[in-house]
Amino acid sequence: MLYAVLLVLIPIASFLMARAALAPLQKSYELQQRFVDGASHEMRSPLSVIEGELELALLSIRTPAEYERAMQTALDAVGGLTQLTNDLLLLSRGAGAELKKTYELVDLNDLVRLDIDARASSPVDAARLDVHRGRAAAVLGSPALLARAIANVIDNALKFTPPTGVITVSTAVHDRTCTVTVRDTGIGMDNNDLKHAFDRFWRSDRARSQPGHGIGLSLVQQIVHAHDGRITLTSQVGIGTTVAVNLPLRP
Ligand SMILES: Nc1ncnc2c1ncn2[C@@H]1O[C@H](COP(=O)(O)OP(=O)(O)OP(=O)(O)O)[C@@H](O)[C@H]1O
Ligand SMILES: [Mg+2]
Repeated sequence: MLYAVLLVLIPIASFLMARAALAPLQKSYELQQRFVDGASHEMRSPLSVIEGELELALLSIRTPAEYERAMQTALDAVGGLTQLTNDLLLLSRGAGAELKKTYELVDLNDLVRLDIDARASSPVDAARLDVHRGRAAAVLGSPALLARAIANVIDNALKFTPPTGVITVSTAVHDRTCTVTVRDTGIGMDNNDLKHAFDRFWRSDRARSQPGHGIGLSLVQQIVHAHDGRITLTSQVGIGTTVAVNLPLRP
């Protein structure tokens, strides 16, 4: 009888022990995976700036001043990339306390302005953007990560809105909270889309004609949570989507 009980218990106990031993490995794999996903998503735009600047500089003989300007732009992009990589690494390690130690005062108005200025090179995008900046909206955070969060939300609005639509970007301060709101007049989302929009790799069927991997919003949510903030989506199919990012005003 004892033998029969042991025969059943030993494999179960071994299975449970093996699972417990593997759990940290599984967790570390998931964190690594999250870093790779986030990093590859976010590195595309600074890398294309560097590539573009260098290609342009090599296209024909330039003056020393033009070479200097191209190198400076590429160097700035490399600096931003280094900062972003460090911050993404801390974020994906779940190292909240470590990341928070690096936080500095950032005005969300400045981040919005920089983002909109960078889009001036695409006249189609620039013509659709309507920007309303409110009073100073200083929060404690990572400028690189917050900039990427804002950029991702605006990228989505531009991507899922037809060329005739409008994207309104506004900042406001209310009750110790700074809010960046991005409202578009695009394809919109139904209730099922809203339920899944923050899931990693999820994309709605109506979004599939546009490029993407379904990573942007999950990263934005991770960044917002790492700043003790909140992100909300409201949307109607065919009418448009509003994304509101709420962050606590600096203490
Ligand atoms: N402004 C929007 N309007 C309509 N649908 C949206 C909007 N923003 C997000 N979505 C929906 O949520 C999904 C997830 O968004 P997310 O940003 O994570 O992925 P993506 O933009 O499709 O790809 P990626 O961000 O990896 O380039 C989108 O595929 C789309 O279905
Ligand atoms: Mg996206």
